[in-house]
Amino acid sequence: MQTQSEFLKLRQHLEQTIVGQRALLDRLMICLLTGGHVLLESAPGLAKTTAVKALAGGVHASFQRIQFTPDLMPSDITGSDIFNPKTGDFQFAEGPLFHEIILADEINRAPPKVQSALLEAMEEHQVTIGGHSHELPGLFIVMATQNPLEQAGTYPLPEAQLDRFLLHVVLDYPSEDEEIQILERDRRLHFGSEDTALDTRISPETVLNARHEVAEIHMEESLERYVVSLVNATRDPGRWIDGWQDYIQYGASPRATLAMVRAASAHAYLIGREFVTPDDIIEIAPDVLRHRIIPSFTARSSKLDADELIQGILQAVPIP
Ligand SMILES: Nc1ncnc2c1ncn2[C@@H]1O[C@H](COP(=O)(O)OP(=O)(O)OP(=O)(O)O)[C@@H](O)[C@H]1O
Ligand SMILES: [Mg+2]
Repeated sequence: MQTQSEFLKLRQHLEQTIVGQRALLDRLMICLLTGGHVLLESAPGLAKTTAVKALAGGVHASFQRIQFTPDLMPSDITGSDIFNPKTGDFQFAEGPLFHEIILADEINRAPPKVQSALLEAMEEHQVTIGGHSHELPGLFIVMATQNPLEQAGTYPLPEAQLDRFLLHVVLDYPSEDEEIQILERDRRLHFGSEDTALDTRISPETVLNARHEVAEIHMEESLERYVVSLVNATRDPGRWIDGWQDYIQYGASPRATLAMVRAASAHAYLIGREFVTPDDIIEIAPDVLRHRIIPSFTARSSKLDADELIQGILQAVPIP
């Protein structure tokens, strides 16, 4: 765990910019530590964009913000083959996706064609144009934000796209005390000359080394079985809870199982533990599962949403 202290510094750096929202800061670091993509959702103005920018400011990586709008075309993000009159050839001109940390801002304001162009990039770390594949950088992660679906001018992300996000984090409003602190911080930033950049940014090598260390965090077999049972319960909730057999239309895929193990390991790493405990799993399970299950009509008519179903499952499946 040689790299862990660097991530403690990164957390302090994030806390200088963002008041509260501890889970958000935690989840951003978990994604950096696992190479997983994250989807952040909240009403406008809850510091999604600010937090991702602060994270990018703490890592020595190339950062690109892509604002998703209704008129965006797939080639606007991937790049395209451009004719070079000198050579008489087509040459690939890289689009904004060719960076290490991507802020895909307001992702659900772009039409499905653009969203599916992101899909290949997120899953395969490459972009294919005109039959040629172009590798994305090794550190490549997408941190996407979206506003709730009820808002005007949004296109819901397809389920296959959602499954590609390691975590789906939903933010809540700050408390009154936190909001007072947000005001104070804003005043300081406005009038002071406070330097919010990290003195030594985390290098890409450190991030990659940390990812190796996270992969080596120990997880007991009983905990692996626990994770598998939690995911299984999303497919067959009736087996775990009486009367719930019709509550989930679609359950989570094995990708969720992998995601839960990775995220729990990174969570343990950030605490400074070399092994996973049930608490790590219980803490991150909602963010791993939230976007991967579709409540059935029966569940929705009993006013149960994905979060309530996950809470039910966490209570029903015995903790090892
Ligand atoms: N917890 C917080 N700590 C510090 N600043 C905050 C916090 N919450 C909101 N703010 C401030 O509120 C403003 C809005 O934040 P930001 O633009 O990041 O929101 P957003 O979630 O991306 O909103 P939108 O969905 O509209 O894009 C910023 O000035 C930000 O600094
Ligand atoms: Mg924003």
